[in-house]
Amino acid sequence: MYIILCLFLSLIGLPLLWMLKRIFFPYLWQDIRFFFRAIGYARKIEQAVKSCPSFGMLDMFLKQVSIRPNQTFILYQDQSYTYKEIDLKSNQAAWALSHYAKLKKGDCVAIFLGNEPAYIWLWLALAKLGCPMACMNYNIRSKSFLHCFKCCGAKVLITAPELKTAVEEVMPDLVKDGVQVFYLSRDSPTDGVLSLLDKVEAASEGPVPETYRSGCTVKSPALYIYTSGTTGLPKAAVINQGRLLISSSLSTLAGVSCNDVLYITLPLYHSAGLMIGVRGCIQQGATCVLRNKFSASQFWDDCRKYNVTAFQYIGEILRYLCNTPKKHNDKEHQVRLALGNGLRIDVWKEFINRFGDIHIYEFYAATEGNSFFFNYTRKEGAIGRCNRFLRRMRPFELIKYDVEKDEPVRDAAGHCIRVVRGETGLLISEITITNPFTGYAGEESQTEKKRLRNVFKKGDLYFNSGDLLMIDKQGFVFFQDRVGDTFRWKGENVATTEVADIVGMTEFIDEANVYGVPVPYHEGRIGMAAIKLKHGQSFDGEALYQKVADYLPNYARPRFVRLQDFIEVTGTYKQRKVELVKEGFNPASVKDPLYFLDETEKRYKPLDSHIYNVILEKKLKL
Ligand SMILES: *[C@@H]1O[C@H](CO)[C@@H](O)[C@H](O)[C@H]1NC(C)=O
Ligand SMILES: *[C@@H]1O[C@H](CO)[C@@H](O)[C@H](O)[C@H]1NC(C)=O
Repeated sequence: MYIILCLFLSLIGLPLLWMLKRIFFPYLWQDIRFFFRAIGYARKIEQAVKSCPSFGMLDMFLKQVSIRPNQTFILYQDQSYTYKEIDLKSNQAAWALSHYAKLKKGDCVAIFLGNEPAYIWLWLALAKLGCPMACMNYNIRSKSFLHCFKCCGAKVLITAPELKTAVEEVMPDLVKDGVQVFYLSRDSPTDGVLSLLDKVEAASEGPVPETYRSGCTVKSPALYIYTSGTTGLPKAAVINQGRLLISSSLSTLAGVSCNDVLYITLPLYHSAGLMIGVRGCIQQGATCVLRNKFSASQFWDDCRKYNVTAFQYIGEILRYLCNTPKKHNDKEHQVRLALGNGLRIDVWKEFINRFGDIHIYEFYAATEGNSFFFNYTRKEGAIGRCNRFLRRMRPFELIKYDVEKDEPVRDAAGHCIRVVRGETGLLISEITITNPFTGYAGEESQTEKKRLRNVFKKGDLYFNSGDLLMIDKQGFVFFQDRVGDTFRWKGENVATTEVADIVGMTEFIDEANVYGVPVPYHEGRIGMAAIKLKHGQSFDGEALYQKVADYLPNYARPRFVRLQDFIEVTGTYKQRKVELVKEGFNPASVKDPLYFLDETEKRYKPLDSHIYNVILEKKLKL
């Protein structure tokens, strides 16, 4: 109906009809243009796969190597590598790994490394051997580490001597399980760990025959990417070859080309950095600049040094950049586009004003999810548009959600209820053959939890994104919040139960209830724990600091603590959080004793109105 009417309107072109279009379908052209670009891209990939069922990311890379061997692929510190050089390096790595780690097609290898060129040539080497790669978060330690490592079923771990302490801590367990561990260096400082770099350098540069990876299809696992689940420890989302092929569509649709230099400061263990960033560069034959850690003070100098034209962001990055002291050369750079998510409107405006007219492409996509939104219009704050075309390609719905009970609302017949335009709802997307959900490695129960059944009729099946979105009357999509037991801080999802387990292990604590609280001028939510002390014990801010510092990455540590006489639970024995989130951490309104994690003093200390005000005045970095 919409299409027919619109075509009618546009063909006739009468001024009156044109006006009607302006009034009723102001975004029609942009919708149509985007739709055709998306379809065109999907077709291209489909055809490539049809003509060769094993076509994958690696074939795309090899194609670039043959088209533009001398194009720069990776820039890192003062190093520069062309497509050809990375190809040869990955051949060497593949030979070394097949010889020393006895890797065979299908064996999973876990990578525990920061952003560096080796991350990419190892990835390509593994692809050449038909082996999936598990991308471990280099911030995790001990129990979480072992959990992540085990759930992808890897028998080989590749890491770097810089992460020696973390590795040595878990070595006994790895040895017990017969895991082979390699350092990406020429010699190894740890007993039982082999050096890999020397072996790579000594290996042949000859191509790895296709027989090594024969039988791989679009369904074969390519990557395991960890996501924080709604409950408990991280889960490894299975990314198959098909998914990896499509993942470059975001950068393609944003218009990244082979002339672009993409600056990646996001960690490669996340889907954004690796699947959208690096994978996107491979698709176009573009250059990527890697940096291990984002640095606000170095950012623009790096952009000038490497002639950066595009970068990836999370909302925090743009905020940090806006918070740096103003400089006369703030607009001297060649950056033309930025691709990412989590940007707040106020930051967006400030950023554009200060650093020039950079096209910001905000998108929404979950690592394991099967729907995505993309901002292709000039609408501030929106993560994308919901148009009928896209909806047909990737069917999704927003349904009513009971935040208190933490589950979708169902009517008398047991069906979920669609929200009306302008109302916030839970994003779910139908799981179909063309819109699959590949689940989590070795965790059927976790996979099942993300499936929502009998949604609108008996037997239908949807993927539960865990995200609350809102679609306004004009069809713009806005991100609202995450539901369930996770919150987002500094671009990382934090599972409250995982944090509560660690906090609850502290000597003097009986029980902990962890949740995220919003802080003014910050994206996401910061961690807070309500704790109940053991009988007769008192609060020990140093001991608690020690515990969280030992076991939790920085972003997951509760920044605020609230003492309670008892932890409230719901009728179904879930900890009650909604009220606590609302009450937040203002010492003037919360009557319970409050504590604050002081990073310089390495302890939790009483939170008074002074500290509270300093935080609100943005004078204290969180
Ligand atoms: C950046 O561009 C300048 C001028 O075109 C060029 O001289 C320089 O080599 C480029 N830098 C890099 C890292 O490509
Ligand atoms: C949406 O995209 C337009 C065009 O690229 C951009 O100008 C605008 O800033 C974007 N909005 C957000 C919130 O990213």
